Amino acid sequence: MFVTREGNEREEGVKLAAAEPKQRTVRDWESFRESWDGVHNFLLAGECLPFAYEMPPVERIVDVLRRDEEAHIVSGARGDRLDQTDVAAWFRSLPIEEAVRAPFALAHYKLAKHFGTGGLLEGFGELVLEPWQQALRAAGFAWTRCYPIVFISGPNRATNYHLDYSHVLAWQVYGTKRFVGLKDPDRWSPLATRIHSRGVQRPEQLAEEDELAYDMPPGTALWNAFLTPHWVEATDRIAVSVNLSHGGLRYQGKLCRHEEEVEDWQRQHPHEPKLLF
Ligand SMILES: [Fe+2]
Repeated sequence: MFVTREGNEREEGVKLAAAEPKQRTVRDWESFRESWDGVHNFLLAGECLPFAYEMPPVERIVDVLRRDEEAHIVSGARGDRLDQTDVAAWFRSLPIEEAVRAPFALAHYKLAKHFGTGGLLEGFGELVLEPWQQALRAAGFAWTRCYPIVFISGPNRATNYHLDYSHVLAWQVYGTKRFVGLKDPDRWSPLATRIHSRGVQRPEQLAEEDELAYDMPPGTALWNAFLTPHWVEATDRIAVSVNLSHGGLRYQGKLCRHEEEVEDWQRQHPHEPKLLF
């Protein structure tokens, strides 16, 4: 068949357009099984969001967690690097109405103590963690760790460009955040970067057209693919998300490619510090 050069170019254009990753929502477990171990983030809905929970008022969340010694509270101001200055003492001294408008970023990784009767997150285990884990298990998955983290960001706070050694279900509960990943993560963070990702910096050449971003109003849940670069921007109001962090996640005994590579590398470099936990 005779194909004109123009025809070829048109076909190429169609192929390129088809390859360009787009925002997606995964609504059933069959689609989840096809997508979980890829390199692109997607939203979760329908049967893939099998829990509901009414969070306490945002002032109460901030007030209880800021008094918890295990909370990490930093300035979170944006510069060349994220400002990790510990501002806990100052932040705890503010009246709560001021605290929720203050420049801060709070993270809490050991929340189970707040799940009991009368606790800040009473019933969270039965109403969120258990249904999620049951559904994930029923879909054929197993894991070595799965636990919640609360992230709170004051107005206009952002996280740095970074990669996580985990799959994260990021569930937005208050305020709106913009979760920015990349269309071609492996181009910007090849294996060598993924192995040594601590302190990684945003590549200067990275442009807006390289981003694959999701606006996350309250109720949105996003699956953040293992070891893919991302950052999160908050709007001019306080924002709270609950992240379920997963490690050692396997379907039919198999890890995702990025985690398997790290495991292989770790086996070949037994004296290097442990990357996976
Ligand atoms: Fe992250």
